[in-house]
Amino acid sequence: MSTLDGQPVVWIWRTPSGRAPRRFTVAGAERAQAFHRSLPGYQPTPLVPLRDLAARLGLAALHVKDESGRFGQQAFKVLGGSFCLHRCMEEGWDLHEPGAQQCREQQCREQQCCEPQHRGTQPEAAGSAPSCPGSAHGGQGSGASALRASALRVSALRVVPPGQGSCAGHPCTLQSVIDPSGAPQPAAGREPLPGAGAADAAPPAQPRRTVVTATDGNHGRGIAWSASRLGLGCVVYLPRGSAPERVEAIRTLGAQAVVTDWNYDETVRFASRQAERYGWVLVQDTSWEGYEQIPAWIMQGYTTMGLEIARQLDRPPTHIFLQAGVGAMAGALCGFFADCYAAARPVITIVEPHQANCLFQTARHDDGRLHRVDGELRTIMAGLACGEPCHLGWEQIRAHASCFVSTPDTVAATGMRILGNPAGTDARIVSGESGAVTTGLVYAIMRDPALGDLRRQLRLDGQSRVLCLSTEGDTDREHYRRIVWDGLY
Ligand SMILES: Cc1ncc(COP(=O)(O)O)c(C=O)c1O
Repeated sequence: MSTLDGQPVVWIWRTPSGRAPRRFTVAGAERAQAFHRSLPGYQPTPLVPLRDLAARLGLAALHVKDESGRFGQQAFKVLGGSFCLHRCMEEGWDLHEPGAQQCREQQCREQQCCEPQHRGTQPEAAGSAPSCPGSAHGGQGSGASALRASALRVSALRVVPPGQGSCAGHPCTLQSVIDPSGAPQPAAGREPLPGAGAADAAPPAQPRRTVVTATDGNHGRGIAWSASRLGLGCVVYLPRGSAPERVEAIRTLGAQAVVTDWNYDETVRFASRQAERYGWVLVQDTSWEGYEQIPAWIMQGYTTMGLEIARQLDRPPTHIFLQAGVGAMAGALCGFFADCYAAARPVITIVEPHQANCLFQTARHDDGRLHRVDGELRTIMAGLACGEPCHLGWEQIRAHASCFVSTPDTVAATGMRILGNPAGTDARIVSGESGAVTTGLVYAIMRDPALGDLRRQLRLDGQSRVLCLSTEGDTDREHYRRIVWDGLY
């Protein structure tokens, strides 16, 4: 086994405070699930008991939640985006109002007017704007204020009493506009944008309210899926190096997908600035000071997964392993499981790749501040390649997680191979890089003598009932095959 190939698994143990605002409750999860249940194609995803693997590893039970079939979108992320847009509508945010706050230049282009100073002005090309990045957590430059400004803009969306907006006269909900056949509705302006750095990377006119987001793939796909069903315009920015298959999956849903020249966090800032500039609604799956309502709804959407698990299990798990990018999903589930299992709260471990271990670093410093990881964030776990923690997520994680593990990519690759080639009569799970890392880690902890201290600290033994989440399927099939067939990593 190669988990220790020059890059050891490292961990931090800490005593969770148990104190956090009760934002992600069982009642909230029931509300989210009731909404998801109302969508065509809803099915609880399977919770797969891996009995043979558990026996081999000396565990009482090992369950893996398989998210590869979630609404046909191959990842859990769609739960968050769809619930968030539904809540926006419930709250009367007039998502169907044409872009009343569009910037003057864009209106000018749409109307083909002749003011030369406007005709020559193009929206910023993705990858050509070094002025944008700054830290949401007090870093350099104007980025932080740009983020706050866009948060203000989002909160300043016109609130109309239900029934009086542009949907007046008919119920305007996500369900009401869904095509019962499940097929995406045609989206206007669906011409793919030119690639990063192209001088004319201007989104075509977006006559309808447009939502925008940055994504490593799965969140953007979930937003594109939801937007297509609502008839909203959708622009999705992806970090440099994004897998073509993930980009294409978003375009297929009618959204405009643009690969930038930046890493994930810089791309989030760019999306935020574009929202501000064009009057789009930023639907981002991470929070920062002043930008909380939308990510909180997204996170609540994820708790449908937690509720399904709680109902699928006979007994509470003793140990839960949650992978994290910004930590929104892990935070939401930490809060949910704390509420659900109360005193019998399982030991929760947060798992990240070495190259993007911002929660591990935040736990390590333990100084009341969020710590970011900069640079390339180069890891095969694309969904976890995020360098800045979600502060709503951290609030819950800090309160409820006991252990933070930073892993090399080999752990994820091992997990993919194990889940794809199960022991004995266990069912096969097709799990992508970000999905498989937790199972790969449990395997490593139980088998690798070098991780004996971690095993003992976690008290993983023959009494343990372990829960892992496989949060995605083979969202990059070519890469999946290179790992599982060709032994890459
Ligand atoms: C497959 C997968 N798993 C886990 C995560 C982590 O979610 P979060 O960024 O909320 O920590 C992501 C994020 O995109 C993902 O795509």
